[in-house]
Amino acid sequence: MTFQIHSLSPTAAEIAGLDCSRALPPETLEALRAALKEHPVICIRDQHLDAPGLGAFARRLGPLEKQDRSAFCHPDDSDILILSNDRRADGSQIGIVDAGDFWHSDSSHMSEPCRYTMLYAVQNPIKGGDTHYIDMRKVYEALPASLKNEIAGCEAVHHVSKTLNPRVTVSAERAGAADYYKSRETATKSVTQPMVRTHPESGEQALYISPRFTIAIAGMDDAEAQPLLDELFRFMFSNPAWQYTHKWRDNDLVIWDNACLNHMAGGGYEYPDVRRMHRATVAGDRPFYRAS
Ligand SMILES: [Fe+2]
Repeated sequence: MTFQIHSLSPTAAEIAGLDCSRALPPETLEALRAALKEHPVICIRDQHLDAPGLGAFARRLGPLEKQDRSAFCHPDDSDILILSNDRRADGSQIGIVDAGDFWHSDSSHMSEPCRYTMLYAVQNPIKGGDTHYIDMRKVYEALPASLKNEIAGCEAVHHVSKTLNPRVTVSAERAGAADYYKSRETATKSVTQPMVRTHPESGEQALYISPRFTIAIAGMDDAEAQPLLDELFRFMFSNPAWQYTHKWRDNDLVIWDNACLNHMAGGGYEYPDVRRMHRATVAGDRPFYRAS
């Protein structure tokens, strides 16, 4: 099976002519992996995947992360998470309503964060619902040498609790969210991650911090660490050329590589304008830094 690929930006590309519901030969999967190495955001158009079909395709790239929010797992495949603002007749949420509302790399608060994330657009809202990406390879590449030297070999502290992080807020849309994040403050341990992450296949370096999950720098007083993080975050947003915004079509399947990106759900839609995405996350290894 061959497919056509063309670039949407230096960071993103789209693929046509690939049917992810079918078994794919090894050379097609290899070509997909190669495409992801060059363009860490890949959109495969016009897919028709039920939840088990999405799960089966995602497992071709590796084992999937287990989801801990069972209330929002798909009943037909528990590795598929429902992200949605849709509600049942009794008013309860069918999926996670505030997923990804601040810039982050998926599950960097875990010691072995997921490597690839796949989102399949089941239903797009009439308005809004874009997903934004920043290519953290480009950010790192452009960092002044003094900042590169300052963070080389440093580790940052990542934590899942929003209530420990003054750079983010807790969505009022999600029932019980404040209590949930409060309980996570002590129930979940922080992890440290390299501030510069070396890509395991290409060897490229990427800045590996995020406003959502990074709350401190290991072994550095906050008086020094917080202004440094602020400076890095300001720099990260300083050039629109490092960003790509995906405007979803129905049946888009987007795959991205968390090793070298931050992303964020753009929001901008309101119930009863419904957005429904199905998400699979491919497990990853421990991030590392190797000096170049
Ligand atoms: Fe995310």
